[in-house]
Amino acid sequence: MSHLLTVIPGDGIGPEITAQVLKVLKAVQAPFEYEEHPAGENALKTHGSLLPDSTVAAIEKSKLAIKGPTTTPVGGGHKSINVLMRQKFDLYANVRPVRALPGVVCVNNKANLTIVRENTEDLYAGIERMVDENTAESIKRITRKGSERIIRYAFELAKKTGKKKVAIVHKANIMKMSDGLFLKVGQEIASQYPEIETRDVIVDNACMQLVTRPEQFEIIVTENLYGDILSDLCAGLVGGLGVVPGSNIGDKAAIFEAVHGSAPDIAGQNKANPTALLQSAVMMLEHIGEMEKAQKIMKALFLTLEDANNRTADLGGRGTTSSFTEALIRNL
Ligand code: NAI
Repeated sequence: MSHLLTVIPGDGIGPEITAQVLKVLKAVQAPFEYEEHPAGENALKTHGSLLPDSTVAAIEKSKLAIKGPTTTPVGGGHKSINVLMRQKFDLYANVRPVRALPGVVCVNNKANLTIVRENTEDLYAGIERMVDENTAESIKRITRKGSERIIRYAFELAKKTGKKKVAIVHKANIMKMSDGLFLKVGQEIASQYPEIETRDVIVDNACMQLVTRPEQFEIIVTENLYGDILSDLCAGLVGGLGVVPGSNIGDKAAIFEAVHGSAPDIAGQNKANPTALLQSAVMMLEHIGEMEKAQKIMKALFLTLEDANNRTADLGGRGTTSSFTEALIRNL
């Protein structure tokens, strides 16, 4: 079955790395019909909007998008595209796999886990007020509905990807009501997946365990704020934000993208590393059930990175965006 795929090349290095990733997808005969649409600074120039209606309509139709990084113009009250998309499509699951890659200097090469972060609630809902000029309040809002859908997503992901362990990360010992509700819902859902080993870990302990023994985790499911912090901590473990993929997933759409930005300092120079976006494409293949093609690309990526001649400048190599992809396609 062929899937309609909305391709958003984005800004800066976005179009360069997106083009390379499409070459790899075509080389493995991924079952996509590609439709390109603009978003970001380029779209603001050509369509007068960071996220044109035509792009929103395309994602509504395809429900699947791969997105290069977009530049958020400074000033003018521009919201980031990612925030806009998250709200527009109710993308409640932020999913970030974290694993060490050959040739990438890292703090702990035993990490191989996925963080599933709730994307819509918690302190990020923006419910804030000044009580008086010296006192501010932010409300932490956690709902059963919001907790249920993210925790179920994490368990279903474990089932689909053959993982055996889920850790629910919280601070219910202190925030007994909000985190208490998240944990309670987590334990209820866990009881429906007896084949999966579930444990709960308090967030401060989770940070320490992740740095010292990350191999004990397979899937971590957590609230918005803890997830934001833990996913960057984990990215730091395996070589930084430049090599880590990500996705924002909801019931109406799933959008896959690299974690890094549009890197204007190296745009148009054939220097950008396509690894992060390529791994996002691998996540997208897994999302639609194309596990074999996903594994094939990951194997080729590992082989390519193992050879120092292929690596791009950010990884200390002499390879270019295009030579890296050519080597990878040879390795498929
Ligand atoms: P950045 O991630 O674009 O760049 C930081 C540094 O990392 C730069 O030196 C850059 O050359 C390098 N870098 C990033 N990706 C690379 C790659 N694939 N290969 C080799 N080197 C790479 O972060 P910065 O400079 O803070 O942001 C630039 C723009 O990107 C801003 O407008 C920001 O709003 C936007 N941004 C967009 C994101 C998205 O669309 N998902 C995420 C983060 C930032």
